[in-house]
Amino acid sequence: MTDLQEHIINGKGYAILPIEDLNNFNKLRDQFIEKMQLYTKEKKLEKLRMTITSMSKSQINDLMVSLLSFDQASEILVDSCKNIVSSLSENEIFLQRRANIIFNLPGEDQRRQWPHYELMSGVSPFTYIMWAPFHDLDDDGGVFYLDQNKSFEMIKEEHQKGIVNGPTILNKEYNEKPPKLKYGEVIVFNPFILHGNINFKSNLARIACSVRFQSIKKPLLQKNTDFFKFYKV
Ligand SMILES: [Fe+2]
Repeated sequence: MTDLQEHIINGKGYAILPIEDLNNFNKLRDQFIEKMQLYTKEKKLEKLRMTITSMSKSQINDLMVSLLSFDQASEILVDSCKNIVSSLSENEIFLQRRANIIFNLPGEDQRRQWPHYELMSGVSPFTYIMWAPFHDLDDDGGVFYLDQNKSFEMIKEEHQKGIVNGPTILNKEYNEKPPKLKYGEVIVFNPFILHGNINFKSNLARIACSVRFQSIKKPLLQKNTDFFKFYKV
């Protein structure tokens, strides 16, 4: 077992690491800005983040749907973090076909994401998730993560009541603070780690990219080859 596997599987469950090939990751961010030209002529990421905060929910939905055509994003993100990926899943992986580009808006009632862990979406227990913001996280617009022990405590607490993914996990007010990642950092976590957004105050929306992958030697669960593709790191 590699040190990173030990840490992510048996230890804390997540790690914040530097992106290895930042030039490549810059390309991902720049291609994203280019794709956004359909919606806004802003070429500066900060202006773009400001524009997004004044968009309606349906505009943002349209935007996120249109970004699904950005099917190079998952490969670029993984290629920017080759050592991280291969030390977790070796070189041959099942890679999420379309990376998610996620917007998170400031203000009350904007919480778009319930606290959750990735296994809920039908990925296998052998999946890893990488999440990287397109800018420094200066405010609380990031994502909070509970370490593995706390996540399991919550899951077990519900289990004892005979519930799975019920109100204990989904409705709880979490007090955790999101880690303030810098641009050029990535957070890697296992699919049992509870995470979510909190309300935050800012003039700027948060924009981040995430991708899921696992070794081809491990079995898939509900999400199979319509979600994943074979990829060599
Ligand atoms: Fe998630």
